[in-house]
Amino acid sequence: MSQLKQNQADGDERHSTLLHNAAAIRAICSAVEGTLGPKGLDTMLVGGQGDVLITNDGVTILEKMDVSHPAARLMVQVARAQQQQVGDGTTTATVLAGALVAEGVAHVQEGVPVAKVAAGMQEGIRLAAEALAAHARPIEGPDDPMLYRIAYVAGREHADIARLVTEGARLVGEERLRDPGYRFGDAVVSSDKGPSEVWPGLLVPRKPAPELWRPDAAGGAVLVLQDALEPERPGDETLGTDAGVRLLLERREQFAGQLERLAELGVGLIATERGADAEAEQFCADRGILLLTRLTRAELRRIAAFAGAMPVRRAALRKQPDELARVLGRAGHLGYDEAQERVKLGGGAGSPAVSVVVGASTREVVGERARIAADAASAVQAAVRGGYVPGGGSVELAVARELERRRETMRGMEAYGVAAVARALRKPLAQMLVNAGFHPLEKLELVKASQLQSGSDALGIDCDTGELLDCLAAQIVDPAPVKIHAVQAAGEVAGAVLRIHTVVKMKG
Ligand SMILES: Nc1ncnc2c1ncn2[C@@H]1O[C@H](COP(=O)(O)OP(=O)(O)OP(=O)(O)O)[C@@H](O)[C@H]1O
Ligand SMILES: [Mg+2]
Repeated sequence: MSQLKQNQADGDERHSTLLHNAAAIRAICSAVEGTLGPKGLDTMLVGGQGDVLITNDGVTILEKMDVSHPAARLMVQVARAQQQQVGDGTTTATVLAGALVAEGVAHVQEGVPVAKVAAGMQEGIRLAAEALAAHARPIEGPDDPMLYRIAYVAGREHADIARLVTEGARLVGEERLRDPGYRFGDAVVSSDKGPSEVWPGLLVPRKPAPELWRPDAAGGAVLVLQDALEPERPGDETLGTDAGVRLLLERREQFAGQLERLAELGVGLIATERGADAEAEQFCADRGILLLTRLTRAELRRIAAFAGAMPVRRAALRKQPDELARVLGRAGHLGYDEAQERVKLGGGAGSPAVSVVVGASTREVVGERARIAADAASAVQAAVRGGYVPGGGSVELAVARELERRRETMRGMEAYGVAAVARALRKPLAQMLVNAGFHPLEKLELVKASQLQSGSDALGIDCDTGELLDCLAAQIVDPAPVKIHAVQAAGEVAGAVLRIHTVVKMKG
């Protein structure tokens, strides 16, 4: 084959891969874009066994969808990354990524080299993220009334959820909310048994022995054991011998003494990674010590952090009482909530914790309410960290206009990539308008002209009436980090998809 023909064939192949990938991504986007914004509808996911999940949450839909196309899988990762890092805005990120791919492909089809489009897109994303940060307004700590609005908008206008989440945020405090290792979204737990509440402490979904089902037990010391609560066993070689039996009895006696010592030290809760023997269970029940066995590592870590306890192995029980006391933590409240079937820890001596309990009457509904509350909690935390921007797609459009102006001054083919980002940024507003039953193009032009005229980045459209709306005045606001992250995540995946030249199936 001549070089020319070879190049042409390569070009065709690249085009066909790109178009295939773009089509797969289009299909993924259409599954979630209908849920975006205040008029977005829910999606019902149906499993093989007829199990049903109803949700409006982008990442949940993508996670549960049966996706086999490799490029489409990349989209699932966008939503997942968005969820993990900022906890909300997964639909926005997906919609943006889809729009970026579509715009990029259009330029490639016009004949702009892929590398130029991809490079320009990267630059466009950088500019957009910078511009979004420049549009951010700060939050004045956890008492800022705007936080309620952020929780309300991210919480799909559930006033009760917004109240729970903002109350929780106040209890957690600014310092903790800003701590990079702390995820406020994880503080949300669902309950289909009890009412909603904010509990200033930890909840552990375990059932202790019925003798210990007291709602308001006094506090006590806390032992966190990364082990089983039972006597140490003699080695296998001694088992079955007289010496072995003697050793076993001796160890049992020692163990009984160790339990007695724990009781003397005022231990009120023993949390173990493994099981407990019958004797230990009986001892704890008799002495009113809450015994929680077979906890996960994560649960143990949380209890240890909250109570200020040092997780130890069984051998630590041999320590002298004053030494042993040093590894114990403390909780001012150790109770069991029978309705919720959860152990409640309060007044910890370690780092503070808050649990936001979201109640509902059925399993399907409670799951979605908890997802909504987790989104609202993540949004509140993101806003405390990075401020907020006008919502409803308005700020994206303002940034799109800024990018268009920048593009005018750019030379070279990369300008096409920047143009692609600018066009993609119109998509969230356009999609929200479609979901609200309006024709997007006409409204987009109206908003664009009005923003230009007024110099405001907050003008958008009222999804009920179709009229112009100042989103800031209406207090429709989104956390800036959620938007910035959505743009960056979308840019990464769109760049990756554009650069894929061929798809080859691996062995095995
Ligand atoms: N009353 C409202 N009017 C206009 N826009 C709104 C209103 N309420 C919410 N929005 C906008 O809807 C968008 C968020 O929509 P949605 O919560 O469906 O998706 P997401 O946050 O991107 O993803 P997900 O919540 O699925 O992870 C934000 O841009 C927000 O500003
Ligand atoms: Mg949301």
